[in-house]
Amino acid sequence: MTSAQDTKIPAACEVPQLRDDLVESLQRELNGLKSEGLHRRLRQVDTLQGPRIRIDGKDAIHLAGSDYLGLACHPRLKRAACEATMRYGCGVAAARLISGNHDLYPQLETRLARFKQAEAALLFSTGYQANLGVISALIDSHDVVFSDALNHASIVDGCRLSRARFKIFPHNDLDTLARLLERERSTGRRLIVVDGLYSMDGDVAPLAQIVKLAERYDCLTMVDDSHGIGVLGETGRGTAEAAGVLGRIDIETGSLAKALGGFGAYVVGRRTVIEYLVNRARPFIFTCAMPPAVLAAVLEALDVVEQEPERRQRLWDNTRHMRAGLHEIGFEVSPSGTQIIPLMVGEPERAMRFCQELLDRGVFAQGIRYPSVPRGTERIRLTVTASHSKADLDTALTALDEAGRAIQLI
Ligand SMILES: Cc1ncc(COP(=O)(O)O)c(C=O)c1O
Repeated sequence: MTSAQDTKIPAACEVPQLRDDLVESLQRELNGLKSEGLHRRLRQVDTLQGPRIRIDGKDAIHLAGSDYLGLACHPRLKRAACEATMRYGCGVAAARLISGNHDLYPQLETRLARFKQAEAALLFSTGYQANLGVISALIDSHDVVFSDALNHASIVDGCRLSRARFKIFPHNDLDTLARLLERERSTGRRLIVVDGLYSMDGDVAPLAQIVKLAERYDCLTMVDDSHGIGVLGETGRGTAEAAGVLGRIDIETGSLAKALGGFGAYVVGRRTVIEYLVNRARPFIFTCAMPPAVLAAVLEALDVVEQEPERRQRLWDNTRHMRAGLHEIGFEVSPSGTQIIPLMVGEPERAMRFCQELLDRGVFAQGIRYPSVPRGTERIRLTVTASHSKADLDTALTALDEAGRAIQLI
């Protein structure tokens, strides 16, 4: 056996270079993305989450985030995160099934289950992992998944990983869904999976009808409520509450990194389902537990959602103001009424030109392109929050008017 001292560590200059042909082929592909208008780059942000942003050195009104209730920098959340860090440390350096499961995890899970009127909850490190973990654990090659065409990428990837038969129905098209349910039988499970509030389109899934169809055809239901939690429904419990089916969805997932201002994700459902996921969901098992600061912040966020309903009120006032202003200018605005407002452009380069024209006028709203949305449906996605003032929105509307004319969209 060699001692540690004998082990030869290669000097930096001896590390093999990435092979030239690989670099060349990657570069060719990147050039292809550039010529299609689909190349992405990271922009430098110098501010905290909020209604204003400094991005690429420019100050702008921020219409691109998901901090819908303005909780990411709420003093109560920040204080709770700091106190948890002082008490528990920055990280737990272990998976929950090893030695990472301190008391904040079950506390937050119990709180989330109560909030969603479910039997039990389980935390995942991200929303992406939650969808991947749930679908790949519960569904296999004997099963069929019925998935909306505009479902989030993490749902699509979960379905791919599960190796189930994957039946995609056109967005919110219940007639086609019913036909597929009638036709596609299976020896195993059948699952209908949808987003609650669609992240790029801003419309909601017709959950009441979906639950009825699921009952009629003996199917399971799964809803990703990443953009609905905290926001939709009388008390902010999400899309299911707004649709009158709270507690009637078999499995609900959602990110804690949007309206709740934190990080990570939840799954809620029957107690046995949650116990099964603890044993079988690989993205839960093989990853370190979430940092204590985040758990404490989300616990506080749930209290704020219940105790400060005026934030939701402000969000809806602002959303109505923005939608009415856009309509008046001449933009075609979908009638969904939610805080996510897509302005359809249709070509990637033009969507990015719109984004730049807006930034030049002091507004940041991201251009959204394939593969985040289907080809030919490129757009600017506006998100309104409770933190915007009416003056912010009016300034943004003036910029949208000018930029929309500059690219001849209106
Ligand atoms: C609908 C939807 N599901 C899941 C996710 C992933 O959540 P997370 O950012 O927590 O991974 C996102 C966005 O990030 C989303 O928009």
